[in-house]
Amino acid sequence: MDEIKINPWEVSGNFDDKVYTKIVNDFGAKLIDDKLLGRLGGLTHGLHPFLEDKTFFAHRDLDLLLDAFENGEEFYLYTGRGPSGDMHLGHLMPFLFTKWLQDKFGVHLVIQLTDDEKYLVKDLSEGQISKFTYSNVVDILSLGFQPANTHIIIDSIHAKTLYNNAIKVARHLTASTVKGVFGLTDSDNVGKFFFTSMQSVPAFLVSVMKKKNVRCLIPYAIDQDDHFKIARDILPKIGFYKPASIISKFLPSLAGNSKMSASDKSSAIYLSDDAKTVRHKIVKYAFSGGRDTADEQRKYGANPDVDFSFNTYKLLESDKKKVQKIYSDYRSGKMLSGEMKELAVSEINGFLERVRANRAAVEEKFADYLFDEENPF
Ligand code: TYM
Repeated sequence: MDEIKINPWEVSGNFDDKVYTKIVNDFGAKLIDDKLLGRLGGLTHGLHPFLEDKTFFAHRDLDLLLDAFENGEEFYLYTGRGPSGDMHLGHLMPFLFTKWLQDKFGVHLVIQLTDDEKYLVKDLSEGQISKFTYSNVVDILSLGFQPANTHIIIDSIHAKTLYNNAIKVARHLTASTVKGVFGLTDSDNVGKFFFTSMQSVPAFLVSVMKKKNVRCLIPYAIDQDDHFKIARDILPKIGFYKPASIISKFLPSLAGNSKMSASDKSSAIYLSDDAKTVRHKIVKYAFSGGRDTADEQRKYGANPDVDFSFNTYKLLESDKKKVQKIYSDYRSGKMLSGEMKELAVSEINGFLERVRANRAAVEEKFADYLFDEENPF
């Protein structure tokens, strides 16, 4: 097994189910079992495909959040993005899932853009980061979040509210904790030492604003878990609930099991990629679970489970029967790898076009989505 590295600023190694289970156990989160899945599905009248296929596979206190919800308590959703570049399909996954949760539960959603974080950890100028901040927000909102229930927080813009709450967390966050959890050393800048305090604030901000404790559920991929493990230790000390979370695996890179990552352009498909680029990337780089020759493929069939094109097609196609048919045709050898790739290309391009078609309308309403410090919820 390659060495696995995983923290909010560095992810490397090959991930499979065994590795994910080990990470969850080491981090002290829990796997989502069938009982919890059934309970959630009962409340949402059916499961999102990301739950069915265990893309969202782990949690912290989701059971407690559902207990409270069933007892009539309200909750809100919180997720976020660090604007250090264009968004790729992997980044969109938590947002697609969060949108589904918002639609099902009809709750408020806070989306944090950590532009300060990216200034601290990446070699980018303020100008570059603010350009990405704007375009990332437009991309995220183009997925179709409800305007009245969606509140964008940009760290540099909402600095006063965030800072005044972040210091409450920072008072309990020691240098030895961040060194231990993230592996920071004395040569890391002090901003990184403080940063978890900023990412913790939206997990209790609604409680501050409403002057009563409101529960929070945070969807994210497992690289963000360290921040919230820390937040869960500290928030009860300052009078708030521990946030609950629902945690996903990574969308793999085109080439295989490592994470789809912005640091390797050929490993990822971007929302900004045009149809020709998407096709080129899939044909050239997408890992195939098919056989080396068409004859062998017809005879022995493919392994769709490890096939990038099949998995991405499954991610974006909501018709389960169609997905099942493609799975069995590809598995049996009726369908060839090249055909699987072309199908994925048209599914991805269709999805990207639908999202991009919403951009102009979102840009017009951009200001309406910004978190309003005077009149927040
Ligand atoms: P960022 O911008 O690195 O990632 C945004 C979200 O995408 C998830 N993610 C992935 N999910 C699936 N497959 C992948 N290959 C993949 N790569 C990244 C991340 O886990 C994240 O959920 N500091 C954060 C921004 C943030 C945030 C939050 C994220 C602020 N508050 C609350 C989640 C929840 C960041 O830089 O994320």
